[in-house]
Amino acid sequence: MIIFMCGIIGFTGNKPVKNILINGLEQLEYRGYDSAGIAVLDENGINIRKRTGKVAQLREAAMDLNEEAYCGIGHTRWATHGGVTNVNAHPHKSGRVVLIHNGIIENYRELITEYGLKNKLVSETDTEVVAALLDTLYSGDPIKTIRKAVDLISGSFALCIMFEDHPGIIYAVRNVSPMVAASFDGSSIIASDITAIIPYTKRYFVVPEYHILTIDKGSIKCEDLNGNTVEPEILEVNWDISSAQKGGYPYFMLKEIYEQPDALDRTVRPRVENGLPYLEEDGISDSLFKGIKNITVIACGTAMHAGMVGKYVFENKLRIPVNVEIASEFRYKDPIIDKDTLTIVLSQSGETIDTLEALRLAKRKGSPVLSIVNVKGSTIARESDYVLYTHAGPEIAVASTKAYTVQIAAMYLIACRFGLVKGIMSEEEAREFISKLENVRTLIEETLKSANTIKMVANRIMISPDVFYIGRGIDYTLSLEASLKLKEISYIHSEAYAAGELKHGTIALISENVPVIAIATEKNVYSKVISNVKEVKSRGAYVVLVSHDDKIDDTSICDMQIRLPEADSTFSVFATAVVLQLIAYYTSDAKGLDVDKPRNLAKSVTVE
Ligand code: AGP
Repeated sequence: MIIFMCGIIGFTGNKPVKNILINGLEQLEYRGYDSAGIAVLDENGINIRKRTGKVAQLREAAMDLNEEAYCGIGHTRWATHGGVTNVNAHPHKSGRVVLIHNGIIENYRELITEYGLKNKLVSETDTEVVAALLDTLYSGDPIKTIRKAVDLISGSFALCIMFEDHPGIIYAVRNVSPMVAASFDGSSIIASDITAIIPYTKRYFVVPEYHILTIDKGSIKCEDLNGNTVEPEILEVNWDISSAQKGGYPYFMLKEIYEQPDALDRTVRPRVENGLPYLEEDGISDSLFKGIKNITVIACGTAMHAGMVGKYVFENKLRIPVNVEIASEFRYKDPIIDKDTLTIVLSQSGETIDTLEALRLAKRKGSPVLSIVNVKGSTIARESDYVLYTHAGPEIAVASTKAYTVQIAAMYLIACRFGLVKGIMSEEEAREFISKLENVRTLIEETLKSANTIKMVANRIMISPDVFYIGRGIDYTLSLEASLKLKEISYIHSEAYAAGELKHGTIALISENVPVIAIATEKNVYSKVISNVKEVKSRGAYVVLVSHDDKIDDTSICDMQIRLPEADSTFSVFATAVVLQLIAYYTSDAKGLDVDKPRNLAKSVTVE
């Protein structure tokens, strides 16, 4: 199933809306899409322009639109229900109602039957069914109509709605799918994420689920389904618009790889006091750790791989059992966790539905939930008992890089504090640990100097149908992340393997020139990994060795070498991560692919 994540923007105020909407959709392009559209509403009614293809084509199609309209909605669509066609693109209009939607309406077929909507429909989308339902229910009171419709709809939705006889006003309501809103200088704006808002204001609020917004020029009313007015918490963006622009880099991904030293500094340094980890300011008191006997880590994709790295520190240094769970698996289990289990949830976006539902299950089991999230005020952050925000700044590229390394750093901070509180780590050991963590920026900066060597690796593997990553211990978890990075942006099939496991079958796939990227930073298993490397080398593999070694001339070991600055393997993960991110980046770029927006993928997966 295609993973989707649409972009939403709505604006009403004292400025012509057309270009505000289209510029906003351009800010949201990174989310991935296949069509785009806008609807503007003025005294003459509703005008819609929508096209498959890029926002640039929409801009052209909207050239004739009335410049004097001051209220409208815009949408970038990544198809789920119905193909990529102009008719299926949003906005969808039915009678007096026009709307845009991000999410999946699970009972749209039942609604068609129950309300006889079939003859009102021209597209194949679930979204148009909601427009038809609203128009069928509409009796002149938008709030009353939306309340009724929300009661009938099941599924995830972020809806922006306009009624033809209410010019200048946008209504909005959400369940699960994210939306943020703001009012400023006599205007109001709503969007699927803050990158579309930040050119206008840094103060915004997260739209509460199942609350209806009435968005007017410069004012937004928020009310619950019983009509009670609610004042949502106003949040402040802690980064500026340049963070959400490429700043001279060819792709966001490369920029975000190079931003890692600063992202790590912003995440770690505010949590260090007198050389020791300090989490009180984040609302994470030592009492949280006191009764904890084991830890469950829950996440998806790269976030899960970061959790796997954190596991090594908790287990190896603190002897605390850690269970890393794939969120989409965990949420359908009857997990063996309770109040003595600390659940750590990792999510860059804070909106991943599998991770969110897994979090909810952990809470139902009585486990305290501490989440590590990069987006302030996101759903996962708001539903957690405790939150340790990472300060990586907006991560625009679909392939997660800086979010991964700051998540590892956050896990390390928590582990170190946990060890101190439990008396497992002495102050002296904690100081040494934190000092090394504060020093990882130099490891990364040193590693970035190998970019040209890494580019050579990419040029070599870009033609290969299969690439293998192998490692042991913490390096095996890095292999998993490396393989995902390569697959998701270069479309080359790749597998990560525990080096010692290869000989139990998969080595049958190793033949002449098959690239094997071996990671060997853990000293206690280094010789074993080198033996495994020699096994694949002797079968014709093209071996790239990523290690601390000085120059290796022995061609029975490797064909290429990427040398990491000397460091304890617990901390060299940050340098290794950069190498593996760059291998994927340069391979994708060499293949002429869209590195930031790979096919089939979206930045935040809010569907199951
Ligand atoms: C990573 O490169 C991918 N984009 C993907 O695996 C991502 O890490 C995963 O979807 C989890 O997203 P989250 O961190 O926003 O929850």
